[in-house]
Amino acid sequence: MERTVLQLTLFGLLLALATTLPNKDDWDIYSFHINSTVTDRYATTVITSRVANRMDESKEIEFHVRIPKNAFISKFRMFIDGQAYDGIVKAKEQAQKQYTDAVSRGQSAGIVSSVGRTLEEFKTSVTVAAHQKVTFELTYEELMKRTLGKYELQIHARPMQPVKDFKVDVYIHEKAGISFINVKGGLSTKALANAITKTHADKQAWVHFYPTEDQQKTCDSCGVDGMNGDLVIVYDVNRDTSLGDIKKSDGYFVHHFAPAGLSRIPKNVVFLIDQSGSMHGRKIEQTRIALIHILNDLAEDDYFGLITFDGDIIHWKRELVQASSGNVESAKSFARTIRDRGATDINQAVLKGASMLNAHPREGSASILILLTDGDPTSGETNIEVIQSNVRRAIADKFPLYCLGFGFDVNFNFLEKMSLQNNGVARRIYEDSDADLQLKGFYEEVATPLLTDLTLLYTGGTNLTQTNFSMYYNGSEIVVAGQITDNDVETFAPQVVAISGRRKVTFSGTNTSVESTGTESGGHIQRVWAYLTVKQLLEKELQLSGPEKEKVKKDALELSLKYSFVTPLTSMVVTKPPGENTDVLHKPKEGEAPGRQANTRIRQHSFRLHSPPSHRGFAGMMPTNAMLPDMKRGGGAGYHMISGGMAGPPVGAGGGAGYPLAAMPVPAFDMEDFDDAFYAAAPIGRADSIPRRPKLQKRPGNRPRPTFVAAATTPAPLLHRFLLKTDSASPPLCFDVNGAALLKLLHHPSRELYVNGELDSVTNGGFKKIVIHFTADQHVEVTTTGVTVRLGQNVTHHTGQDPITVGSMTVIRRDKEIDVAAADARLIILVHQKNGEEFLWPVLRQKPSATNMEGILALTPAVYEEVQQASLTNLKIKDQEISATSATAVDYGVVFPLTMNCWLMSAESALQRRLDDFFVAQL
Ligand SMILES: *[C@@H]1O[C@H](CO)[C@@H](O)[C@H](O)[C@H]1NC(C)=O
Ligand SMILES: *[C@@H]1O[C@H](CO)[C@@H](O)[C@H](O)[C@H]1NC(C)=O
Ligand SMILES: *[C@@H]1O[C@H](CO)[C@@H](O)[C@H](O)[C@H]1NC(C)=O
Ligand SMILES: *[C@@H]1O[C@H](CO)[C@@H](O)[C@H](O)[C@H]1NC(C)=O
Ligand SMILES: *[C@@H]1O[C@H](CO)[C@@H](O)[C@H](O)[C@H]1NC(C)=O
Ligand SMILES: *[C@@H]1O[C@H](CO)[C@@H](O)[C@H](O)[C@H]1NC(C)=O
Repeated sequence: MERTVLQLTLFGLLLALATTLPNKDDWDIYSFHINSTVTDRYATTVITSRVANRMDESKEIEFHVRIPKNAFISKFRMFIDGQAYDGIVKAKEQAQKQYTDAVSRGQSAGIVSSVGRTLEEFKTSVTVAAHQKVTFELTYEELMKRTLGKYELQIHARPMQPVKDFKVDVYIHEKAGISFINVKGGLSTKALANAITKTHADKQAWVHFYPTEDQQKTCDSCGVDGMNGDLVIVYDVNRDTSLGDIKKSDGYFVHHFAPAGLSRIPKNVVFLIDQSGSMHGRKIEQTRIALIHILNDLAEDDYFGLITFDGDIIHWKRELVQASSGNVESAKSFARTIRDRGATDINQAVLKGASMLNAHPREGSASILILLTDGDPTSGETNIEVIQSNVRRAIADKFPLYCLGFGFDVNFNFLEKMSLQNNGVARRIYEDSDADLQLKGFYEEVATPLLTDLTLLYTGGTNLTQTNFSMYYNGSEIVVAGQITDNDVETFAPQVVAISGRRKVTFSGTNTSVESTGTESGGHIQRVWAYLTVKQLLEKELQLSGPEKEKVKKDALELSLKYSFVTPLTSMVVTKPPGENTDVLHKPKEGEAPGRQANTRIRQHSFRLHSPPSHRGFAGMMPTNAMLPDMKRGGGAGYHMISGGMAGPPVGAGGGAGYPLAAMPVPAFDMEDFDDAFYAAAPIGRADSIPRRPKLQKRPGNRPRPTFVAAATTPAPLLHRFLLKTDSASPPLCFDVNGAALLKLLHHPSRELYVNGELDSVTNGGFKKIVIHFTADQHVEVTTTGVTVRLGQNVTHHTGQDPITVGSMTVIRRDKEIDVAAADARLIILVHQKNGEEFLWPVLRQKPSATNMEGILALTPAVYEEVQQASLTNLKIKDQEISATSATAVDYGVVFPLTMNCWLMSAESALQRRLDDFFVAQL
């Protein structure tokens, strides 16, 4: 009876909410930035949303984003009217109490969070006065996990409106060197491909995603509400055969262990497949499909067993058999006949599987037990604790148990605990069209054992995270962090001991790098340690009970509070201006079905019938799994890599051909996947050996400029070195251009877009002015100090950071860059500094798709072959041999300029055109 009443109340409330949903047209998200920095596989992401209330009355403004489940939120702040409001991380009980107090005082409060397959939701809101602005800033951190040979950084972009100033910037810095980097995900589709740029230079990589407002409405997963989807940055680092990377800083260290070059060891695997009645339909069908694929992938020297179970246990064979083609075929026939029926006897199944593995000699091989189930134990032994203790006794730490929980009817906590107690992990398999791929994907992660019984030893280390591991699989990685006793780096000695087949192997004595102990890097190694320690304590807590559990929980809580992590033990209390409701953010637990959370929340709202505006948005909520965009694996054809080039050191004697070849080996540049290139110029200092005609710069009024050029010593003109990148792994070409030139940067005649730049010949070089003409009457002139706009007869000068609308063009001036969107192009003009002088550098973040474009930014990548002749290298470009010298140039097309090696030649040779073609008579 009570239940009916509650439901009626809820229904009424939902109706009321639906009619008062905030009208998003009332507020304008004028800027939305996602900035992700990954250093040593630790990612810190900041989402910044700036919103203006354009109405004449105060409005409730919402901030609503999704972040990866694995991440911990570490900071949330709002700026309103010059005032910062910082969220505070508190123990969950304490935050909950605050929340309950707020409710009892008649204020409503929301628990802001929910779950999807890989994402969690963060949502809050605040009242903003008429014509006021608010900035929301959310920071979260995560340690990237290597799976199947790669790391994946998932960035979810859903600002809920098309945004003028929308951008995603990702910067990756890996000391070991980045072996490859790709961009995937639902947003990496054809329609958006030209808004993605990627730059990869050995240890660093950048990905930028700058879609225009139009693109935000028209791409696959986008609509009138703008963008909605994922960008997934996939990469890996270089590996050698040794101990791996160890970073130390400020008394902390982190060790990434994933050596290359090991050979696989044969495995013994037993599959336990639940065929109870609840597996009926698609689940059992997908299981059959996945199982057949998995059996196919077994190696000839693997041994395997197959058990299906419901209330009964059905062995395919009583013992493990070798994965010969005959046995595999026979097992596949058996797999095809698996039918759903009966109850679920998990206890009996796991015990039978364990005894099959125990009966098989293990020497030189690795044993694995995999359980797939979709429900609770309902038959045979059903007491969860008894099952867990039976299983522990049967397995006795001899091999790992992996539990796959299919769907949301499983008791995931039970499976997780049982896996962790037996050196394995539990994974949820989502009931979806790709469930068979999820099953197969999990199997692939454990398909190739390389080492067993690993012990990682750190003499001189303390407060270590987990150091013993039963397995190391190909494509994965083991991470250990800790403190260095007394920060004594001298005595710190890491070592890994493990079994590879029948051999004991030891890894030790690599060159470990000691990072500079600046607070920045020191901070991040320490945070990796804290992140990993908290994660592992939470896993341990799950396995324990009584006072031990409380102790571990207390430790995890203390660390979470110290490092301000929102974990399952802490909550963030969102601070707001006085008089507003309190929001409390909890991190949901895995295993909580989607929707359960939402119910809790709605029930809490029913405390008040007149819901305050801050909660109106909840009515629009769907179960989170329904909102999850389908991450397109392997999608993302053709992204554009655009990066600028730049000059380096002063050119030596001989006008730029300064370096003897032998002394300047060109390192193996990994520029794989570059499918576009543009080059750009840079100051390279004064080349004294080049004869020059003294040339006085004219100022208005014909008076010579007093300084710089007319100096007494004969100063040489600045040379600007341009890079022309390739789309292969070969180094870029470079060439020099005398300063004082007016260059054609981008001419896009079909859209009436013209961009020209003036090189600086007197100070540092680079560009001192860039001018954009769009249609007949829209003109923008950019210098390092500001932006001048001419729209028809009106001229305005801007030095602030608000977006400027120039007819159909948008110009946004930020700290160190000017962002110009016109037609289907998006141009970023970076502001760099050298010797205290600023200069401009243009980069095309979105390349128009037209083919009739001209200019330096529209150049296609260089293509050449190397031809070795005696001690000289010639390059063959379009059947023509050209002599080239190894040189360096600075790439100014990235935020932090980067020196790269290049092949230096004349501009005509590199461009295969007259340089004059790139000059314009006036800006
Ligand atoms: C991104 O964040 C990093 C670290 O806080 C900062 O150094 C960098 O300037 C930011 N990049 C952008 C484009 O805002
Ligand atoms: C491990 O995986 C990589 C690809 O990720 C593959 O090239 C290599 O051969 C594998 N090693 C073994 C021993 O199977
Ligand atoms: C590290 O370990 C020492 C002793 O084992 C302990 O006193 C100290 O509190 C630990 N530090 C942290 C941050 O846990
Ligand atoms: C790790 O393994 C070693 C040797 O295999 C053992 O001596 C040690 O007690 C184990 N440590 C933990 C924490 O289990
Ligand atoms: C360690 O570094 C030295 C010099 O930097 C180098 O010669 C040596 O080969 C390195 N050793 C290993 C195991 O990488
Ligand atoms: C120029 O400015 C005036 C006054 O601000 C305005 O009325 C006019 O429409 C503007 N002209 C153009 C072409 O934008």
